[in-house]
Amino acid sequence: MASKGDKEKIREEIERLRREIEYHNYRYYVLDSPVISDAEYDRLFRRLQELEQAHPEFFDPNSPTQRVGAPPAEKFETVRHSVPMLSLSNAMSEQEFREFDERVRKGLGITGPVTYVAEPKLDGLGVELVYEHGELVVASTRGDGIFGENVTANVRTIRSIPLKLRRERGAPPIPARLEVRGEVIMPKSAFQKLNEQRAKAGEPLFANPRNAAAGSLRQLDPRVTASRPLDMFCYAPGDTTHLPFETHWDFLEGLKAWGFKTNPLNRRCKGAEAVIAYHAEMEKRRAQLDYDVDGVVAKVDRFDDQRRLGEVSRSPRWAIAFKFKAQQAVTRVIDIIPSVGRTGIITPVAQLEPVQVGGVTVSSASLHNMDEIERKDVRIGDYVIVERAGDVIPYIAGVVTERRTGKERKFRMPAKCPACGSPVVREEGEVFYRCVGLSCPAKLRESIRHFASKHALDIHGLGEKLVSQLVEKGLVHNVADLYRLEREQLAQLERMGEKSADNLLGQIEASKNTTLARLIYGLGIPHVGEHLAKVLAEHFGSIERLEKATEEELLAVPEVGPETAREIRAFFSVPDNRTVIRRLLQAGVKPRLERRPRAGRLAGKTFVITGTLSRPRDEVARDIEAAGGRVASSVSKNTDYVVVGVEPGSKLDRARELGIPTIDEEELERMLKG
Ligand code: IVH
Repeated sequence: MASKGDKEKIREEIERLRREIEYHNYRYYVLDSPVISDAEYDRLFRRLQELEQAHPEFFDPNSPTQRVGAPPAEKFETVRHSVPMLSLSNAMSEQEFREFDERVRKGLGITGPVTYVAEPKLDGLGVELVYEHGELVVASTRGDGIFGENVTANVRTIRSIPLKLRRERGAPPIPARLEVRGEVIMPKSAFQKLNEQRAKAGEPLFANPRNAAAGSLRQLDPRVTASRPLDMFCYAPGDTTHLPFETHWDFLEGLKAWGFKTNPLNRRCKGAEAVIAYHAEMEKRRAQLDYDVDGVVAKVDRFDDQRRLGEVSRSPRWAIAFKFKAQQAVTRVIDIIPSVGRTGIITPVAQLEPVQVGGVTVSSASLHNMDEIERKDVRIGDYVIVERAGDVIPYIAGVVTERRTGKERKFRMPAKCPACGSPVVREEGEVFYRCVGLSCPAKLRESIRHFASKHALDIHGLGEKLVSQLVEKGLVHNVADLYRLEREQLAQLERMGEKSADNLLGQIEASKNTTLARLIYGLGIPHVGEHLAKVLAEHFGSIERLEKATEEELLAVPEVGPETAREIRAFFSVPDNRTVIRRLLQAGVKPRLERRPRAGRLAGKTFVITGTLSRPRDEVARDIEAAGGRVASSVSKNTDYVVVGVEPGSKLDRARELGIPTIDEEELERMLKG
């Protein structure tokens, strides 16, 4: 049996440990500046747990060990707030805020500036904490403002909430009963992590941090709450009658001294203009904060002034929520329209009933691709939530499924391009649908630029601006039209004198003398890059034979996979594409077949290049080909050598895996020279 003296010693040690651990919780969770290591903390914590287990007579629900969560409850008890938890009226503009300030000054009978405390308006859930003799006794949700739910067991698990108030020297005296109100929130970063975990576990996701905070706090099992990263900022008293303060600002300072977390962004402001400036500043900083803020709360600083102003219809006359521009709005999807982009990719765009979001009118939003539409299940006729944060482009965040009537229609990607009627193909493994039309007006600019680019027909002087003018003036409807341009037409264009017109015509003329590979590459068939164009040129020998090649024949070409074969077939099956090619040839484009010297010193050898070499890769590739070798883009068992430059990529790993010889640039040069 332990003697009375021993028991007393143990009680003292338990109390000392509790105080010490709470102090470290305070340093860590409230001040964000810990003074001991995690290991030291764990040691203290375990020691306390042992002592408490061995001496259950010293149980205390406010011991830091109880923050892991009590056993589940059947239901929440109801708590009556001793002073109703009011709501705030809103000011939606500077004008409305100035009107509020007018009313305050009139009510107080003063003409000079009123001192306010301005605070971020946190988007979480209102909670009241009641302390008796410095110890947490009850915590409740706001509920309907009069009655709330008793969530004490859950609130105990929130580490930044003091279970016992700090009694520091110089701190204001703690009233026998203290009521403190504030907002329980979940940090945005924690919310994201939580949702990621839930997605992995196949659990439903929370719509936003506020719902996540509410769902976590209103848990019958406090151990679940304990596992959720909640935080609380305190900002208001309940009953003010026994408070040792004259102003709200001093009250906030008192809260800090007692160990509560208050918002470091709170600011005392003299006069309405100072509040307006604070509001503007917070709206700018909003995106950087790790918690959601939907406005600023301005409160008359002096408690006696607050009492004189009183309240109307359950909102105080002395405080107001000065809201930020809404970043979310609900509106209807009138239609979903496929829109063809510069590269032929077809993007479904939602046409919306115009709505104000973040200060701008939004009437359409990209849905990006079919996967996105399916994931969000957006249908024509749906009500949707439109979001726009800061400078971000407006997007559809989700569907309000509760408002479905059954008349909504699903969007289907058209089989034909809405701009030119050519087939629309979806590439396997890709989320995009693409128009394959060579003359599609929607992608014309890009196809012409590609056709004229260095490794295609190489028409110098046909820059972006000029291409735009040619297309806009209707002088060029497809790449074949380039060969019909006349001097007079060109000379009319902006910044184009007769001399540069002649120059350009000379360039166009010169481009007729080209190679089959360049022509194939220049057509811009999806998946057909420079290398594959060479392979195809060599295999088929003429554009006509490539055009007629069946999928089977295409598949017989090494390096052509089913996806590429399908793309090539889709391209040549468009009659207009074939017409354009005919016209190119008629205009005098003469693709010559450049056979690789079969007898070169590198004949029959396939090379793959990885990493940076001392010369541009295509130059090196040309030398290899000139010597009869082949350059492939990926390493396979058919590769003979992998040329390794600086910072090689995964191709080197693959070469090692397959046991393919690797050489450096010097060795390659030696092989080239022989
Ligand atoms: S003071 C009588 N300060 O906004 C004033 N409320 O519509 C009582 N809120 O239910 C509230 N941040 O949950 C106050 N800095 C802040 C606030 C804040 C968010 C919430 C609170 C309240 C609602 C009022």
